[in-house]
Amino acid sequence: MGSSEESRDFWTSKQYATSAAFVPQLTQKVVQYLAVEENDRILDLGCGDGILTAQIASALKSGYILGLDASPSMIQSAQHAYPTLTHPRCEFRVKDCTQLIEGPSRDGAIDGTWDKVFSNAALHWILRSPSTRLSVLEAAYRALKPGGTFVFEMGGAGNVSEIHAALTAGLLHFGCPLETARAASPWFFPSDAWMKNALEGVGFTVDKVELEYRPTKLTEAQNGGLEGWVKLFGASVLDHVEESKRDECVGWVSALLQTIVTREEDGSQWLGYVRLRGVATKGA
Ligand SMILES: C[S@@+](CC[C@H](N)C(=O)[O-])C[C@H]1O[C@@H](n2cnc3c(N)ncnc32)[C@H](O)[C@@H]1O
Repeated sequence: MGSSEESRDFWTSKQYATSAAFVPQLTQKVVQYLAVEENDRILDLGCGDGILTAQIASALKSGYILGLDASPSMIQSAQHAYPTLTHPRCEFRVKDCTQLIEGPSRDGAIDGTWDKVFSNAALHWILRSPSTRLSVLEAAYRALKPGGTFVFEMGGAGNVSEIHAALTAGLLHFGCPLETARAASPWFFPSDAWMKNALEGVGFTVDKVELEYRPTKLTEAQNGGLEGWVKLFGASVLDHVEESKRDECVGWVSALLQTIVTREEDGSQWLGYVRLRGVATKGA
């Protein structure tokens, strides 16, 4: 997503379920680090279609989790799937998390009352812009009560580098100048050293920051797989290609990657995911 709620919405929950169903599922470690307590108040940054948020909510007895996401489409799906009437422990709001501090704070989320701030698979989008990067981490810090924890998992240095390079090459092949193609990348995949330094810089005590290479199998659903992944996650990149040539570009990028991501033994396709996971505490 871009940097404001008015930005174009490149997400749809239908495409997300088809091409990226593994994202909210491969979360055992980060959820373990979150160590939900039944009365926790948790803020979930970039909650998407709310599957994981609702799963966390099911462990709450008197607590509450608020999911924020910049995509109106994803939030609409979350609200539809988990209405407050039947899911009183979770709530969802449209919010561009790059604007948590600077933007109009209608939601009162950054108020020093949260036990935990959580984020899965979203911070590499949210931290994309160098101009708002540190303010997002500062917002997480300010949102927490003293002693509260920030628990996250995101793409780390080297994440899906094969697809990152192929998408950049795709833009070049379809006529974009190199600088435009580079700038079109919607992600920031920091190293563990960068993240530790940045978290400490806004005041956190870092309990752990770890990088894990976690090859991830693409879905086999119709309209999913490699092309589905490229179309969903690369949507804002492909936007730089003339509309009439976009499908051709998806085909070109996928063809380039075909032998690189396909395993000979069974034809399954895998991307080189690298996860950056961390737990940081706001001093009491
Ligand atoms: C891969 S999805 C992860 C969703 C969810 N956390 C999960 O684990 O399934 C990434 C989400 O980040 C959201 N996102 C991207 N940029 C954002 C921003 N600036 N503010 C809030 N959400 C953002 C997208 O709309 C998308 O729903």
